[in-house]
Amino acid sequence: NSTRTRFSFDAAMRQLGGDVIISTASDMQLGRGETIADTARVLSRMVDAVMLRSNRHSDLEDLAANCAVPVINGLSDTGHPCQILADLMTFEAHRGPVAGKTLAWLGDGNNVCASFIHAAPLLGYRLNIACPEGYAPDPADLARAASLQGQVAVTRDPREAVAGADCVITDTWVSMGDTDKDARMAALAPFQVNEALMDLAHRDAVFLHCLPAHREEEVVSAVIDGPRSLIWEEAENRIHAQKSILAWCFGAI
Ligand code: NVA
Repeated sequence: NSTRTRFSFDAAMRQLGGDVIISTASDMQLGRGETIADTARVLSRMVDAVMLRSNRHSDLEDLAANCAVPVINGLSDTGHPCQILADLMTFEAHRGPVAGKTLAWLGDGNNVCASFIHAAPLLGYRLNIACPEGYAPDPADLARAASLQGQVAVTRDPREAVAGADCVITDTWVSMGDTDKDARMAALAPFQVNEALMDLAHRDAVFLHCLPAHREEEVVSAVIDGPRSLIWEEAENRIHAQKSILAWCFGAI
């Protein structure tokens, strides 16, 4: 399933003068047991880059290891790097360089959160993550960020995470591939982004959400539709970010 990633890569590729072939595993021989490695070897002879969305990051690595052309992570269970490039671009357009700023992540320590952790030491922002027990980010990601002098803190208190933050970010409580919906809804309910929580952030704080949103769950409509929300610009920026990623893959930048 994909809306923003699929459409933005498709539009970006065409705007750059290229073309696109879209497939899902079920309409390829992959769905009938052809290996990822063999698929990669064939695709490499037919296209100039591959963007893959997969529930298993190991599948993406398997594809990349056997592809002779660039492979782009269009979301896996352990990261969504293309998303956060658009998020950070959107933030910087409104609040200036992200270095030295504080981002607050509320809710599930999921794939999008992981990408914010990966980028923290590279870009110099502070990341405050508030999540319930059992939904914390991968300890290996946190350890790696710490070893690179990344400023990433994890708390159980949403109010502590957003205090003075320049940006408040959340995402669905049930990601693709998650099967424990009821347990998640109960555990994550106290981490909802609402107006009272936003009022604890910096007065110029902005709100981001990669979408799709589940209104009145992880975020209330008053925030996502409110003056501090940049979500539509964030979604549009996926196209611009994807063009940069593709241009970089093709050696143009
Ligand atoms: N964390 C969400 C992101 C969707 C774009 C998921 O993996 O479903």
